[in-house]
Amino acid sequence: MRPSFQLRPARLYDAAELHALQQPFVAQGLLLPRSPRYLCENIRDYVVAVAPEGRLAGGGALHFLDGDVAEIQSLAVAPRFRGAGLGSRLVAALLASAREHQAWKVFALTHAPEFFFRLGFTRTVMAELPQKLTHDCLGCPKLANCQQVPVIADVFALRLPAAGAAAQSGLLAEQPWEAAV
Ligand SMILES: CC(C)(COP(=O)(O)OP(=O)(O)OC[C@H]1O[C@@H](n2cnc3c(N)ncnc32)[C@H](O)[C@@H]1OP(=O)(O)O)[C@@H](O)C(=O)NCCC(=O)NCCS
Repeated sequence: MRPSFQLRPARLYDAAELHALQQPFVAQGLLLPRSPRYLCENIRDYVVAVAPEGRLAGGGALHFLDGDVAEIQSLAVAPRFRGAGLGSRLVAALLASAREHQAWKVFALTHAPEFFFRLGFTRTVMAELPQKLTHDCLGCPKLANCQQVPVIADVFALRLPAAGAAAQSGLLAEQPWEAAV
């Protein structure tokens, strides 16, 4: 039987475990490093997936930029829980949050573009993301050799890929996001 996961907004007490969850992917160059302090300061961006035994199985953030643009950041699922649809459910929850906040363009810079393509994202170019370029990329030491692929979704047009899954997670039942899905 597939384990059931609870998706919920992150709380401050999740910061240390989120940090530990992200570290192996940071070491592999898949995620940017986020300090525990950064995670606390930005904890409202994060949604977490909690495994039946209470440990964090995954998490991800939706970070708002200017205008109607938001970025999915730090999406991670613990290796032992991969392939069970958890990453897709986390993205669905983040997209529901984007809708709630009327962020209609959601993008990600990722080493896993195929994962996002399956969810309705398309490839874009950095020139289409001036908010990201000027806020973050220009100061990044990896800029000249960035291997991340920019992907984007028009949230208004997107058929939420796993809205059902997000609702099943229990997250939407306790959030005003339900109304937006
Ligand atoms: C990307 C990630 C979050 C996906 O989590 P997950 O829970 O395994 O995702 P799902 O189970 O919802 O996968 C849905 C589909 O995408 C595919 N997929 C998952 N990860 C993938 C990846 N890295 N590259 C390409 N396809 C991937 C799966 O094979 C699955 O396809 P299937 O249904 O045909 O088997 C997870 O692999 C991860 O934590 N990767 C390391 C960190 C990372 O690269 N994050 C993205 C940065 S934005």
